[in-house]
Amino acid sequence: MLLKFKIAVLILLVGFCICLINTKAFAIDTDQIYADKCEMCHGADGKGTSQGIDFGVQDFTNKEWQASRTDEDFVNSITNGKEENPNYIPFGDMLSEEEIKAMASHVRKFVQ
Ligand code: HEC
Repeated sequence: MLLKFKIAVLILLVGFCICLINTKAFAIDTDQIYADKCEMCHGADGKGTSQGIDFGVQDFTNKEWQASRTDEDFVNSITNGKEENPNYIPFGDMLSEEEIKAMASHVRKFVQ
């Protein structure tokens, strides 16, 4: 009887640990990704670095521009880059689909 109880506790503990590992793997740190992969062109303030502006970045803090682009546009551009702008590198190989969606929402935060 006691052994069964111990086994049950053990199973629960293992389950709990697996849960913890999973949440860690799925937590996407958009601030970190932005700082590592986006800031060099888009700037910490979203307005674009001088290098980024040379490449043709838009000002992420511009409400009218944000309103003119859909979330799908953002996901698509981040994944595939822009055919008409070779300076915009695609991130489809570097970021997962979930990360790209999270980054599209992150970009929206510059106007909130
Ligand atoms: C090498 C410079 C560079 C880097 C690094 C970069 N971008 Fe861009 N990004 C651009 C340029 C240039 C454009 C403008 C493309 C255009 O509209 O022609 C752009 C446009 C965008 C747009 C608008 C797309 C649209 O559909 O209008 C979003 C959103 C965006 N970038 C997000 C990101 C995110 C998120 C990252 C990091 C994961 C990132 N960018 C990294 C250069 C860069």
